[in-house]
Amino acid sequence: EMHASRTEADFLVIGSGVAGLRAALEFGRTGRVLMVTKGRPFESSSIYAQGGVAVALSEEDDVAVHLRDTLKAGHGLCRKDAVRVLVEEGPARIHELIRWGAQFDKTGSQFAFAREAAHSRSRILRARGDATGNEMVRVLMAEAQRSPHIRSLDHFFTVDLVVVDGRCCGAVVLNELTGEKSVIPARAVVLATGGAGQVYARTTNPASATGDGMAMAFRAGALLEDMEFVQFHPTALYLPSSPPFLLSEAIRGEGGQLRNSTGELFMHRYHPDGALAPRDIVARAIWAEMAATRARHVYLDVTHLNPDFVKQRFPTIYATCLRYDIDMTEEWIPVSPSAHYMMGGVRTDLNGATTVPGLFAAGEVACSGVHGANRLASNSLLEGLVFGARAAKAALASARSPVSASSLPAIRDLEGSAQERLDDAEKLRSSLRRLMWGRVGIVRTGESLAKAVAQLTRWSKLVAKPLSTRAELEVKNLVQVAYCIGEAALWRENSIGAHYRADYPHAPKANAKLHSQVVGLNDEF
Ligand code: FAD
Ligand code: SIN
Repeated sequence: EMHASRTEADFLVIGSGVAGLRAALEFGRTGRVLMVTKGRPFESSSIYAQGGVAVALSEEDDVAVHLRDTLKAGHGLCRKDAVRVLVEEGPARIHELIRWGAQFDKTGSQFAFAREAAHSRSRILRARGDATGNEMVRVLMAEAQRSPHIRSLDHFFTVDLVVVDGRCCGAVVLNELTGEKSVIPARAVVLATGGAGQVYARTTNPASATGDGMAMAFRAGALLEDMEFVQFHPTALYLPSSPPFLLSEAIRGEGGQLRNSTGELFMHRYHPDGALAPRDIVARAIWAEMAATRARHVYLDVTHLNPDFVKQRFPTIYATCLRYDIDMTEEWIPVSPSAHYMMGGVRTDLNGATTVPGLFAAGEVACSGVHGANRLASNSLLEGLVFGARAAKAALASARSPVSASSLPAIRDLEGSAQERLDDAEKLRSSLRRLMWGRVGIVRTGESLAKAVAQLTRWSKLVAKPLSTRAELEVKNLVQVAYCIGEAALWRENSIGAHYRADYPHAPKANAKLHSQVVGLNDEF
């Protein structure tokens, strides 16, 4: 029999970033859980998170103020009850992390709270200056290793969800090392696969952020929401020789300034908060300055700050820039916007439940409603913790009796026996990323979007078959997620938050439909 027996567990968590780890820890209290991750065990967006985690814990702060700031940044498209859950449960999740050993930076004996764009209070906790995500993952991972009920498998690429009689009861996985596919049965599945930055030519995300979870959920018939809302981070390193390494918003929080290629400080012309205006506004302002000065970048300037402070406050960023021959304490850093975060994703309720029974989602893959049209900086690590825990709790409560491998379709029935190949997967991947950057980027038009969707529809047909390698399967997922983004962006004939249509520059009318929805299982796929 081809079923995988060594992968027996009651619950399956896909992904081991902050959301997946926190979900696994919740499951581990009462159930047996298996956590699968593609590639290396530590690779995720979570480990690269720099600026920090937003939480209303400082003396001057209050959950009501965190709520208000988040709703404001989301431009009225957040679900208020979800934001309330985020800000109210956030402090308990952070205290718990501290109990497990997380060391957030302090000034004297007090936690140091930093400032970021669109926060009306200093409320960002950080670790080792600019290595917050790394510290959070370290602590969660250590805690997971202490639990006898949590098993994890890396180099296991999840190919698809298994849905029987309308209920998700497992997943098809590919062992990346042997090339073998198998079925893992589960009473419930939590998707924690993160975002899809790789859809774009320029992104701060790691190469693994290919939207697999969104595409899988889409193919399983789940509802995806708000896919047009892609957050572009204003400041990623721009050098011909380097990837777009993130330069944290916290740099501007500490007084960093933006200058155009002629050296002019320009942000005050766009927003009263200058360089600390909301992220979507700063990204578009930079875009406009680049066009006006015919330059490929602007500059981030911290040369007026104390050099010792800069080195100690941003050790990772300082060292990385130095590797590219830029001493940020002495020279301006060339930066330009890059795709950073998916506000949209698999629609969930307050408990992480998707529209497919048995399937839960948490973290960046999900659209829980906390970000609306524009995510408030540093809210996503918190979201992963809060909704990762809630999703697992709800999955435990709702789970049916154990699913046996023999009650699921066999792998050969799900995947077929032919080894299908995709010619030139690498080439398709880079063509897609350029198409999305050019036509579905920071500024869109109906014309650019229609052209993109037509091309993506053609590519969808190429990839609509069972494929055999991780590289091919990632391209398939990228094409399908890109298609969902394009369709949603074409549908939204107005401009709000991160979605800007040059042909419809105005905000939605009061009676407009609030959210875009894309439902999977249509004939194209
Ligand atoms: P991830 O951390 O991305 O984890 C996804 C996991 O799923 C990975 O383990 C991956 O290998 C696995 N996976 C994916 N597909 C598959 C598959 N098919 N099969 C098996 N496994 C799979 N947010 C903040 O709040 N504060 C910050 O300071 C901050 N800084 C950031 C800096 C950078 C450079 C980046 C890229 C993002 C930053 N963000 C920040 C955003 C934040 O890091 C992410 O949104 C968040 O970490 C997502 O967590 P997650 O658990 O949902 O997904
Ligand atoms: C950053 O450090 O600028 C990233 C913060 C975030 O994306 O939340």
